[in-house]
Amino acid sequence: MKRILVTGGAGFIGSNFVRWILTEQPDCFIVNLDKLTYAGNLENLEGFLKHPNHIFVKADINDGKTVEEIIDKHKIQTIINFAAESHVDRSITGPKIFIETNVTGTLTLLQAACDKKIERFIQISTDEVYGQLGPTGKFTEQTPLSPNSPYSASKAAADLLVKAFGHTWGLNYSITRCSNNYGPFQFPEKMIPLMINNALNDKPLPVYGDGLHVRDWIHVEDHCKAIWKVLAEGKSGETYNIGSSCEKQNIEVVKTILKLLKKPESLITFVKDRPGHDKRYAMDSSKINSQLGWQSLINFEDGLKKTIDWYLQNKKWLSRITSGQYQQYYQQMYANR
Ligand code: NAD
Ligand code: TYD
Repeated sequence: MKRILVTGGAGFIGSNFVRWILTEQPDCFIVNLDKLTYAGNLENLEGFLKHPNHIFVKADINDGKTVEEIIDKHKIQTIINFAAESHVDRSITGPKIFIETNVTGTLTLLQAACDKKIERFIQISTDEVYGQLGPTGKFTEQTPLSPNSPYSASKAAADLLVKAFGHTWGLNYSITRCSNNYGPFQFPEKMIPLMINNALNDKPLPVYGDGLHVRDWIHVEDHCKAIWKVLAEGKSGETYNIGSSCEKQNIEVVKTILKLLKKPESLITFVKDRPGHDKRYAMDSSKINSQLGWQSLINFEDGLKKTIDWYLQNKKWLSRITSGQYQQYYQQMYANR
């Protein structure tokens, strides 16, 4: 039985990963530690919370004592760190919490991992640590780190700390860097669920700048399978890029969402650009393809249709999650622009 501490497992990717493991890997036991910030929600784990191979603990990754107690009590062998502040726009308006969680929090986990002689540490990172691309080329694992937003800078700092702990104390680690995810349970502040939610409510769809910025999209299920591959077969000290070669301009994605929902393009509203907005991301995933035999399986058109269907079938989740704190934040953000 693999005994895994998953952090951030009530968020978008973490909860998809926990559900996938509990469904597909019966020999895994998971302790799921999450602070339940605005982005973490136990509803994301509905039907799995009381699974015999799953325990949920509400805690902060900065709480080293609790992390060490969990490792001892549950004989944890592996840590997978999803926990993070993850939204670029929030990092621009309030960067401090990004340092506290993404940098100091990762440091706390690394210290616990070394003190308790954890067998394997997986750091879930992002393509955004590489900065931005011009019209051609792709990020490889050799691309120098050149983050542009407080979010990506905090993730790059965490990656460097992980590497330093491997070098200094021999921690067995791998880092995964994935491109933009979409799929069920994504908090509707990120572009795809935000546009779906606004379109469903006949509200304007706010496209930043000229809408020609490019993101490389991957379905969250493909990402979860890639993380499993890295956990099971990845080499210590290695970084793996994960992507599905699906570059799209934002405006193209927004128009596709409107078409699938049979809503008019007149809902599109071009708004002031995000400060320092990265122009283009594109991932070269040939290393994980050739060394670990992982390939993405879900094409964008099918994945987006499935995602829209999920949001249509989960309108209650959507309305609960967009009430309260998030609504206030959203209004404030646009008022400040
Ligand atoms: P998310 O914001 O949906 O979820 C983050 C989770 O972490 C939430 O459940 C939140 O409650 C929890 N959390 C935040 N601070 C915490 C703390 N101090 N202690 C414990 N838990 C805390 O984010 P996501 O989109 O699921 O991203 C997960 C990870 O994947 C992040 O590390 C992110 O950088 C990385 N990533 C995301 C994407 C993407 O497209 N969303 C792409 C590549 C990499
Ligand atoms: P986002 O989902 O925030 O992910 P990231 O910034 O980490 O790539 O944004 C994806 C793209 O969509 C990015 O180019 C910014 C753009 N965007 C909009 O045009 N409007 C929006 O309301 C949001 C949230 C994002």
